[in-house]
Amino acid sequence: MSAATFSADWLRLREPFDAAAREEAAAGLRLTSRLSAWRPPETGPWRVIDLACGTGANLRWLAPRLGGSQQWLVVDHDAQLLQRWPEHLAPAGGLPGEPAEMDSEPDLNRPLALAGAGFEAAIVRQQMDLMAGLESLPWHAADLVTASALLDLVGLDWLHRLVRASAASGVALLMSLNVDGRHIWTPEDELDDTVGRLFADHQRRNKGLGPALGPAAVDALQAALGAAGYRVFRAASDWWVDGSGGEQPLALQSALIDGMAAAAGEQSPASAPAVRAWRQRRLAVAAEARLRVGHLDLLALPG
Ligand SMILES: C[S@@+](CC[C@H](N)C(=O)[O-])C[C@H]1O[C@@H](n2cnc3c(N)ncnc32)[C@H](O)[C@@H]1O
Repeated sequence: MSAATFSADWLRLREPFDAAAREEAAAGLRLTSRLSAWRPPETGPWRVIDLACGTGANLRWLAPRLGGSQQWLVVDHDAQLLQRWPEHLAPAGGLPGEPAEMDSEPDLNRPLALAGAGFEAAIVRQQMDLMAGLESLPWHAADLVTASALLDLVGLDWLHRLVRASAASGVALLMSLNVDGRHIWTPEDELDDTVGRLFADHQRRNKGLGPALGPAAVDALQAALGAAGYRVFRAASDWWVDGSGGEQPLALQSALIDGMAAAAGEQSPASAPAVRAWRQRRLAVAAEARLRVGHLDLLALPG
């Protein structure tokens, strides 16, 4: 088993693509209207738990769209990512926001805040391994439990624990940016499918939250939530990575090529030479190539 660690640089690189993808999914989910119909704004502050929060991309995207007064508990096992929250509390997605505290003291006990047009969020950070601690979170004091880019890492048992805790406390769930296994390259390369398959096999390794479901996680979660009486909605939140679109998409596409090649080579050492050649070909055309990475967002409301 290899623990799931993610660099702050990787999270920063993907954030604008995540934000664009989530905008599209939010329209398909009718996210804000469904959430405010389920829980009218005058009910009081939104109480939100962000699972596996990284450096806060989920909050930065969601808080301005939830609006109003909010209280967030943000949880991750990686103390280094949590310590970087103050420097990352900056406006995202073009929406105004002001970090209320910018002290770089790495004290996780110090509350933080983010405010902008129409919203103010008080933020408490908690370091926790979600394999061990999921049920100990304050579920009954939450309205919404959310995560972004987490589900592919988790196993079926953990998903069922998530659904049991959600149903017992009556929270809504918003699980964003879950990979669905699609990598669509233009132009194509003869090894794309092989690399994609090896990458998917590698993705199913245990990363500390059980044998990972990878792209199967959304279907499994939808089924379990449906059985628990939830109304479940889903919408595509694909990344569109056009290498000719400038420095950022080129950097993301290159990082994805490197990551896929490393995982595929590790998964099948016999295929490593062919995978290395695929990486070279892909990097050589990256500035003209387009990649669509399939993702799904899922919103679940208590029935
Ligand atoms: C792909 S990153 C997503 C981070 C953030 N949600 C975002 O969208 O930028 C996955 C996150 O899961 C966290 N993570 C992985 N395994 C975990 C575990 N067992 N307990 C808590 N957090 C975990 C990692 O530290 C990382 O921050």
